[in-house]
Amino acid sequence: MPQIKVIDQNGEAHELSASTGSTLMEPLRDADMVEATCGGAASCGTCHIYVHDDWRGKTGERTEDEGYMLEALEELVEINDASRLACQINLTDDHDGLALKIAPQI
Ligand code: FES
Repeated sequence: MPQIKVIDQNGEAHELSASTGSTLMEPLRDADMVEATCGGAASCGTCHIYVHDDWRGKTGERTEDEGYMLEALEELVEINDASRLACQINLTDDHDGLALKIAPQI
């Protein structure tokens, strides 16, 4: 069961337990840290996070739909190389210790 380290929108640190086989969005939504309005379809952008530098190479590539959604968000919020949609990251045991920051609310 991976433990996820999260900095919330207020700059406070949290540690969440996540389930292997779920997406990263799910523990964040269950902790009320993201809205995840679209339920994981990469179409709302409310699960936007910044993945810590140490973990960027271990969270896979952006999906095509994710890339389009992040492009659409660019007018509203900073999008950078660390930007991901948490609903597009599938958790495995290798993600124990994954660190991220929740992006500003859109
Ligand atoms: S939950 Fe809507 S984009 Fe991720």
